[in-house]
Amino acid sequence: MPVAEDLAPLARERRLSLIGDGLGRGAEAHEHRLLRAARPALPVLNWLGQFANPIMRVPKLGWITADPRVARALLNDPEHLTLLSEGGVGHLWAQILGDWVNDLFDGPGHHDLRTRSRELFTERTSRGFVERAWGDRLTVARAVFEAGEELDLADLSRVLVGRMVTALLGTPVDPSRGDDAYREIFATGEELASIALGTTADTVLPPHKVEAARAIVERLTGHVDAAFADAPEDAVIGRCRELGLSLRETKGLATLLMVAGTETAASAMARTAALLADSGEQHRLIAAPEHRDDAVREALRVTSPAPIIGRAVLAALEIAGRTLRAGDRVVVLTWTANNLAGGFRIDRPYLPQYRQLWFGAGRHLCLGGPLAKAELGAIVDLLVGDGRPFEIVSRRYGRRVLIPAYASLVVRKRRDA
Ligand code: HEM
Repeated sequence: MPVAEDLAPLARERRLSLIGDGLGRGAEAHEHRLLRAARPALPVLNWLGQFANPIMRVPKLGWITADPRVARALLNDPEHLTLLSEGGVGHLWAQILGDWVNDLFDGPGHHDLRTRSRELFTERTSRGFVERAWGDRLTVARAVFEAGEELDLADLSRVLVGRMVTALLGTPVDPSRGDDAYREIFATGEELASIALGTTADTVLPPHKVEAARAIVERLTGHVDAAFADAPEDAVIGRCRELGLSLRETKGLATLLMVAGTETAASAMARTAALLADSGEQHRLIAAPEHRDDAVREALRVTSPAPIIGRAVLAALEIAGRTLRAGDRVVVLTWTANNLAGGFRIDRPYLPQYRQLWFGAGRHLCLGGPLAKAELGAIVDLLVGDGRPFEIVSRRYGRRVLIPAYASLVVRKRRDA
């Protein structure tokens, strides 16, 4: 654990202005409005985060930190912090799925699950998943877009993510319904995630929410019982079986993937498009396409689609000169922390103190990180792969959603290009 002396200089350094340098006023304003529309408390939390350097106690909320090193230290400390007790996401899931998830989410079963699923999303398998799940639909979108037609990128993102879930989990869909079938899959994942809305300060779910969530989980993973024995190895269910996961673990992981990888990914896709256009960085990217992967990394940093990560303190610990006691809650402000480094720049060098804090850190580091990056890379290619800039025709922010996202973002190729 870092001690106060290590962190004090960092704290001084960070009397910051949020997303200060060069993101572009327009881009900055849109990101702030988007966060406010999603959850009015978020901008307040982010503002408070400026003072949570390295860590600060807020009545009713607990400890908040926007310091990347403190955040990483906390997320890397499973001895003192857990996501299972009240205040953590595991606490929510244990109420919905049953106490058995405690082992899978944060107990010895979690280590086993992560070890077995290590190869699930590598750079190579992720590119393959994107190709398989999106290929045809992306080709159609690209043809329409490059011909100068308008494209609602927020809607397309939801459709593409719905296709990804279907491909990964083998969820049955009626192909005759076209995009609508995938919109529905996405909406179901969103519904499940929305059950966590309003739980920033309290993770005890009322019985009606538990019941509703259980029904959704059954709708999403009910098919796994029948599919488990023969599911192909190139999708998640069959891979899980081959990796030695039980049926129950596989259903648990399927639910987790659905919840963790739908709204976050769709949010990042449309927000990346908005950032590229609003900041003007798309022109620099067109001139220097070798920065494509850096642009993806920067978009993930600046959007940080999972803006907060919650934990509960299991046993007292000292960090940054403060004592956190058993039962306290900790909120890592990932969005604020990540944006302290400055605005969206496609050529910003890799920032070692951040690594990929937008995907968390430690044992719960996002399992789908490589997949999210492959998805975003494909979206960047769709937007500027032909070397021509695009513009935003209209936008609407999502209201009262767990993950801040565009409800609609209509883009088209610039006519003067
Ligand atoms: C831009 C997109 C994404 C972002 C920003 C993101 C962010 C995160 C973060 C911050 C965590 C850690 C939560 C914690 O420590 O409590 C996490 C965990 C996780 N993510 Fe992602 N995620 C994204 C996409 C995905 C995708 C596409 C998948 C898979 C399809 C996925 C699967 C998971 C899983 C399974 C976990 C739980 C890991 C564990 O507890 O061991 N995520 N994600």
